[in-house]
Amino acid sequence: MTRQYQSVKGTRDLLPPDTEVWAAVEGTARQVFRRYGYGEIRTPVLEETELFVRSVGESTDVVGKQMYTFTDRKGRSLTLRPESTAPVARAYVEHGLAELPAPVRLFYIGSHFRYERPQKGRYRQFSQIGAELIGEEAPLADVELLSMLVRFLTGVGFDDLTVLLNSVGDEASRAAYRAVLTDYLRPHRDQLSEDSQRRLETNPLRVLDSKVDADRQALVDAPAIEESLSDASRAHLAAVRDGLDALGIAYRIEPRLVRGLDYYTETVFEIVAEGLGAQDAIVGGGRYDGLIAELGGAPTPAIGFALGLDRLIEALPEDAPQRRGAPAPTTLVAVGEVAPIETLRLAEELRQGGCTVVTELAPRSLKSALRRAARRAASHVVLLGDDELAAGEATLRSLQTGEQQRVRREELAIALAAEGAA
Ligand code: HAM
Repeated sequence: MTRQYQSVKGTRDLLPPDTEVWAAVEGTARQVFRRYGYGEIRTPVLEETELFVRSVGESTDVVGKQMYTFTDRKGRSLTLRPESTAPVARAYVEHGLAELPAPVRLFYIGSHFRYERPQKGRYRQFSQIGAELIGEEAPLADVELLSMLVRFLTGVGFDDLTVLLNSVGDEASRAAYRAVLTDYLRPHRDQLSEDSQRRLETNPLRVLDSKVDADRQALVDAPAIEESLSDASRAHLAAVRDGLDALGIAYRIEPRLVRGLDYYTETVFEIVAEGLGAQDAIVGGGRYDGLIAELGGAPTPAIGFALGLDRLIEALPEDAPQRRGAPAPTTLVAVGEVAPIETLRLAEELRQGGCTVVTELAPRSLKSALRRAARRAASHVVLLGDDELAAGEATLRSLQTGEQQRVRREELAIALAAEGAA
């Protein structure tokens, strides 16, 4: 037997009509983001491995366990992007985007790759929609970005959204917190998983991301980062809160939220959707004021988010306008002695007139053609016979009522539109 192939574990094919919903959601993102002055950036799917190690951080799950890394034919270590903040920051430095009027506002839509255990809402190839606002430190930048994000989510039918908000502070705040957290965790060392024992020495903040039960138990009474925040970091968070209040954006302070990537500073946030596991945020983001300097640029404050499109679409409300999809195509059939090329000619005319049309390219019987049209959920078929062709007309038949009428060729597109079939 010849072997059949399947998509690689954790990846999947998206087929019509699902792809219509994806395209509609992406379309809404483009529309909303453009209104806030964001331009699209497309970075390569491949980057030097070191870019992610330096920015996301060696001791994170993403870098430590989830990257698709390989050596190319010249011995370079390359990685399929697990996220896009680091690639965007790289591109910002590489192309001197600091020369543009600040802040620079960029968005992206595309595939990302993480070697995780696949389950509902979690894939090894997944799609993110993200936005980055680069070159502004004012808390109002955080507020505007969150406002855009909420506006987009409302636009795809989510209401009652709550932004989970916290601050991981500036470098001094995090240094102070690292010390406090290490002091707290040391006496629990033996309870911790092997990974967390290692992180306790190298990067204690990452212990907070652990999903292991034993680690979570050890963390129950852990001090929150808030007590370690510097005055400047406290003031930044307070200003973000004031701005969100002023715009009527709902948020809740989540004292344990630190996010699992090392580049974050100050504001961090997530949004969780109903119906997905509690650990599974659909959106995550925050400030990364040190990243661009870390990648060789001038010190440049920045903030951004990425949302998981796979998760968002799985949780998309039933009444989201993006679910409506495209109208079913009208089917065009040549009957009798009419040459099939005539159906292509008429179909072209109808498409020029704005109709969605599929042709029966090799009609065997009218009955089977009608059956196929019904399976495509067409509301109408157009029949082109010898008589009609000679008279410059066609027959328009409703598949719902079975009624049919002769229509002049040049009026057919309008007639289809009038029947709601265009
Ligand atoms: P992240 O939290 O690692 O942040 O990922 C953002 C979102 O991507 C998650 O909330 C989730 O919806 C989605 N996601 C992540 N992994 C998977 C997966 N395996 N399957 C399906 N969806 C997934 C970042 O990536 C940051 N770059 C966000 C950011 C932008 N921060 C600042 N700017």
